[in-house]
Amino acid sequence: MCGIVGYVGKHPVTRVLIEGLRRLEYRGYDSAGVTVVKDGQFQTLKSTERVEALAKDVAKAKLQGTYGIAHTRWATHGGVTLANAHPHHSSDGLFSLAHNGVIENYLKIKKFLLEKGYTFQSETDTEVLVNLIAYHYQKQPVAADKNRFLESVRRSLRHVEGTYGIAVICKEHLGEIVAARRGSPLILGVGDGEHIIASDVAAIALHTQSVVYLNDEEIVHVTDKDFSLSTIDEDDIEAVIHTVDWSIEEAELGAFKHYMEKEIFDQPVALENAMRGRFSDDGSTSKFGGLNLSPQELRQVDRILFCACGTAWHACLVAEYLIERYARIPVEVEYASEFRYRNAPLDKNTLVFILSQSGETIDTLGALREAKRKGHKTLAIVNVVGSTIAREADGGIYQHAGPEIGVASTKAFTSQVMVAAMMALHLGRIRDMSYSEGQAFVEALKQVPAQVQSILDQSEAIKAIALKYVDAEDFLFLGRQNLFPIALEGALKLKEVSYIHAEGYPAAEMKHGPIALISPECPSVFLVAQEDTYQKTISNIQEVKARKGRVIAIAHEGGDFPKDLVDDLILIPECHPAVQPILATIPVQLMAYAIAAARGCDVDKPRNLAKSVTVE
Ligand code: F6R
Repeated sequence: MCGIVGYVGKHPVTRVLIEGLRRLEYRGYDSAGVTVVKDGQFQTLKSTERVEALAKDVAKAKLQGTYGIAHTRWATHGGVTLANAHPHHSSDGLFSLAHNGVIENYLKIKKFLLEKGYTFQSETDTEVLVNLIAYHYQKQPVAADKNRFLESVRRSLRHVEGTYGIAVICKEHLGEIVAARRGSPLILGVGDGEHIIASDVAAIALHTQSVVYLNDEEIVHVTDKDFSLSTIDEDDIEAVIHTVDWSIEEAELGAFKHYMEKEIFDQPVALENAMRGRFSDDGSTSKFGGLNLSPQELRQVDRILFCACGTAWHACLVAEYLIERYARIPVEVEYASEFRYRNAPLDKNTLVFILSQSGETIDTLGALREAKRKGHKTLAIVNVVGSTIAREADGGIYQHAGPEIGVASTKAFTSQVMVAAMMALHLGRIRDMSYSEGQAFVEALKQVPAQVQSILDQSEAIKAIALKYVDAEDFLFLGRQNLFPIALEGALKLKEVSYIHAEGYPAAEMKHGPIALISPECPSVFLVAQEDTYQKTISNIQEVKARKGRVIAIAHEGGDFPKDLVDDLILIPECHPAVQPILATIPVQLMAYAIAAARGCDVDKPRNLAKSVTVE
């Protein structure tokens, strides 16, 4: 959460910074601000509205400079006010700083600084940090070498508890930016006569494809022509420059109104990309290049733990059903935020899987580090290439879903489920799954993009159904077995983008409490499996109808579903049971989007949310 960007180079700085903020806005949109340096002075503009409002103010004020920093905020310490918006200046006016993260011991440091005469304009932890830098700067001899700025940041960070990705500038060191990270992502873009620092490659890729991923406890000193990387403890580091394959076009909205809508429609391609090159030549299993585990080592695994947050956690629940059913390995699923503090006893042959679209979610990263500390092998399923989780896991699988900009995750979810299904196949085939079962599984996976497309082709009809329920204030989503996680995901999608209260339950659990909510005002979306629990789910629908509840059913074509039993029916293709969670997801995403858009909600930037949650 929060996006920071800093630029020094040959291009007009305000344009670069504002463009960077536009691409980082998904990380938080409570306020935005920019500081540029002109004639040795800070020029700062802030807005408590979105980046577009800041962009207009910047244009109106004809703000110009030679280099600078900028920030888009997801509020933690202090409300959404101009005073709390970043960048923050030190009270002596020498430093300006943009920060992503939380300084946990800020009150203690603030007390110390107040006693030294420093003053504060905001309620933020960030203003404490910038003043601590000013304090350390003043403590060093004036004749200190040219590294006085860098050293003052380094010394300050040694006193800080918590997380940070920061970019700092100093009036007495013109043309220099110092940036550092612990727990919050930070990337340096290395250009020809220019450098750009940002929380995400998205803000960098317009300028250069050459990047250095900073690790925790690393600090970088940057000018237009040069940069030097070291640790907070002063050890010099040889920077490794990576080339990113990040296409700007993929992140463009095109003809769509919202990123959420675009990303729902991206799914056939995203699913195809998740599979590309990942099936064995004999078409009976899947293969992954980056697992760093041999089939023999995988054979030793007798338990799997999946950790993630939010939508990715729902994908873990699907993985549990698939791996237990097809590979017969016991699976547990934990919220990453709970696992990292729970000290759960794990058998030594437990393999830990970490799922994260962004690869930066702090709780998920914490769970990964905890599992590694305990000596477990860790594998990550991640979308963002080069992200911290991708770099720190022992091995992993990239989703290749392309950039996901809408705050509500859509294509990343179905692509995670696709990778999980391929992993179930892979693990199954090195255990008891037969060659012919493997081949049937592969064939089923290959059909998914076209099947998803056929559901997307019904989007207008699904939208028309959704709009009948646009005024509901409560919804239930009900499904059994591997469709139960899709009930949870359907409820989450609807509530986060439309602010309608929604709950997901296993359909049979409804009788144990939630049935009390059933009324004509509280519609239920039933996800109906093709096999096993089909008849049982129909009985659950009967129970809702008997209580005058309105029902939208999502069921498979080719069955004998009693159409007249329900108010609305959405049909999805017949399929292998392993892939029905992917197909059943598409209608619930389309419904959530249609309802939220019709209610005039800010679909891509729902209130209070941010993508990539980098605070605990
Ligand atoms: C919901 C949503 C969130 C994320 C969660 C984990 O639509 O997007 O619940 O799934 O914050 O994010 P990642 O996958 O980036 O770790």
